[in-house]
Amino acid sequence: MRTRQTITMMSLVVLLANTVPCMAGQNVPALKDVFTNHFLIGGALNRNVVTGRDPNAAAIAEKHFNTATAENDLKWQRVHPRLDQYNWEPADSFVAFCEKHQMVVIGHCLVWHSQVPRWVFLDDSENALTRDALLSRMRDHILTVVGRYKGRIKGWDVVNEALNEDGTLRNTQWLQIIGEGAENKQYDYIENAFRWAHEADPDAELYYNDYSLETSRAKCDGAVAIVKHLKSKGIRIDGVGIQLHGSLAHPSVEGLEYAITSLAATGVKVMVTELDIRTQARGYRGADVSQVSRQNTSDPSAAAAETQKKLADKYAEIFSVLLKHEKDITRVTFWGVYDATSWIGGSPLLFDRNYQPKEAFFAVVKTKTSHEGRQDGTDGEP
Ligand code: G3I
Repeated sequence: MRTRQTITMMSLVVLLANTVPCMAGQNVPALKDVFTNHFLIGGALNRNVVTGRDPNAAAIAEKHFNTATAENDLKWQRVHPRLDQYNWEPADSFVAFCEKHQMVVIGHCLVWHSQVPRWVFLDDSENALTRDALLSRMRDHILTVVGRYKGRIKGWDVVNEALNEDGTLRNTQWLQIIGEGAENKQYDYIENAFRWAHEADPDAELYYNDYSLETSRAKCDGAVAIVKHLKSKGIRIDGVGIQLHGSLAHPSVEGLEYAITSLAATGVKVMVTELDIRTQARGYRGADVSQVSRQNTSDPSAAAAETQKKLADKYAEIFSVLLKHEKDITRVTFWGVYDATSWIGGSPLLFDRNYQPKEAFFAVVKTKTSHEGRQDGTDGEP
């Protein structure tokens, strides 16, 4: 008898542990509805969200997002781990999840220096590939991956993080081997990546994506140069993704406005593709995965009221700028769903470790009311 009671009690505890956080936070407005007349709202989804192993996170995504990006499932390492082997299950389930919930699907990413297996750049004798061999490998990858999701993935981060902070091209193996150290070949790998993505799905939107565009004018100018170069050759590019991995201290309003206006002036769409705000102030502030971890961005005071207020203020400032420039901004995607599974520590997103909306969530919602108030001459209050 006692055992049965204990089991019943335990089941109840498990049930409550699963349902309370899921239900909490659902009585708030859906972000995708709040910003429906302004831009798409999305999130990067990980395996646990897509496969149902994290149902509370999936519930947040379903309610609040009308677009989603695969956090890792379409990166070369995961989707194409060996020369003759593609691993489709993760990406297939990501795309199916998005379609089931009517989310605009974003593919991330085709050509990047990180998360790409060693073999990609080596021949059978472990020597560096020739330019032609690497181009051919890149072509096969792009045609195969983009081709598989033709008509289903709306837009692709074709080239990711090709720039140094000073706006020069990063010295990756893509640049070294395909560029051959020649000035007139330095954009070749980027050109070809965009050409082949377009060939594989002529209706897909194609983007260049990078971090720190909102903090380094030189780097932003480098992105502008990439867009202009591609356009000068008649190659399709539809947009630039400002990743926007921010902190309580950056970006400045001026830096973000510089990035939006100078990129938009080239005639492409601008999107915020990986939004989060680290609360910890120490050290390196870019988003190079080799320099950032959950540990070195952890923040013991993340939950403190003072920190949460600063986080809310920074998010509100960013969204006010985005709304001001809404004619140029098509999408705002958070890099994750809730704090516990973010790639950085601290308290970077709008939902906390218990899936609850934070002060920052409500501050973001309020920016919309204030924006409409400014437009119709009222104070923005209902
Ligand atoms: O899936 C494997 C698992 O099988 C293995 O046991 C485990 C052991 O380390 O690793 C797991 O893979 C990890 C993967 O995240 C999934 O959790 C990788 O090691 C880890 O490197 C990877 O980190 C991702 C990182 O990019 C590198 O690809 C982060 O989740 C992801 O948020 C981050 O996202 C990048 C964008 O793509 C580009 N811009 C910057 C942004 C933040 O760094």
